[in-house]
Amino acid sequence: MVTGTVESGSLQTAIEWMERDTDAEPVIEVEGLNFYYGRDRTLSDVSVSIPQHGVTAIMGPSGCGKSTFLRTLNRMYEVIPGARAEGTVLFAGEDIFKLDPVTLRRRIGMVFQRPNPFPKSIYDNVAYGPRVHGIRRRSVLDGLVEESLIRAALWDEVKNELKKSAFSLSGGQQQRLCIARALAVRPQVLLMDEPCSSLDPKASSQIEATTRELAAELTVVIVTHNLHQAARVSDHVGVFLSGGVLAEFGPTKKVFEAPRHPDVQDYLAGRFG
Ligand SMILES: Nc1ncnc2c1ncn2[C@@H]1O[C@H](COP(=O)(O)OP(=O)(O)OP(=O)(O)O)[C@@H](O)[C@H]1O
Ligand SMILES: [Mg+2]
Repeated sequence: MVTGTVESGSLQTAIEWMERDTDAEPVIEVEGLNFYYGRDRTLSDVSVSIPQHGVTAIMGPSGCGKSTFLRTLNRMYEVIPGARAEGTVLFAGEDIFKLDPVTLRRRIGMVFQRPNPFPKSIYDNVAYGPRVHGIRRRSVLDGLVEESLIRAALWDEVKNELKKSAFSLSGGQQQRLCIARALAVRPQVLLMDEPCSSLDPKASSQIEATTRELAAELTVVIVTHNLHQAARVSDHVGVFLSGGVLAEFGPTKKVFEAPRHPDVQDYLAGRFG
């Protein structure tokens, strides 16, 4: 986990850099969400509306439930024995717990902390999702692979070596490949759990730029421990505190400049992480 003291000057610059629309319609509406691993309650009565398009950053100290929250939104937690969610989560107005999980995960994709390409070629990584959903025609797959790699800002670097193993790519390229793989089924929401935590600053800033571009056409929910990254990349910020309480949610500028909760003020000032 990466935290540290934030120099208020540079954070201020990052905040001023943002000129964003902060009044978008919600795409995900969470109401009274409680989450349990066995008997342990990890999320406590979370209610929040995630606006459509743009980037929502989820922050908070280690162990406060950020990954759990993300995994709830596309029901990825269901593979964990004893894990259960209570409450309401609507996606585009539909109850996610009534949707077919495969359909839900096609519409709400996910990128993880460490790049996790499959031991396959670059092409086959990106074509994986479309193939699972029954697309076989080569011309259609070719189009989706190209489109997804362009959207993930990787196409120019790999277009002549699509048959090469995904493992031949650098860490940052592998993470953009994982983004392309998630995009290939054309999701409406992309969940990213600390996608830059294993990357160097250059690779991180490429992912940030890609994230901003994607946000014009889809909704990105990104977990980050990096306050500067959240300030640069997000339109809205939610801050969880220990006990899985969502203590603050709002437009990024407002949350960074005037957080209401004293513990969130301390967290954003880098006084604990
Ligand atoms: N598979 C699991 N089984 C049981 N408990 C879990 C599981 N995954 C997470 N937890 C617990 O739930 C709590 C929240 O974990 P979570 O991973 O969501 O936190 P986080 O905010 O993402 O932390 P970090 O910043 O370290 O990634 C922690 O107490 C953790 O130990
Ligand atoms: Mg986590």
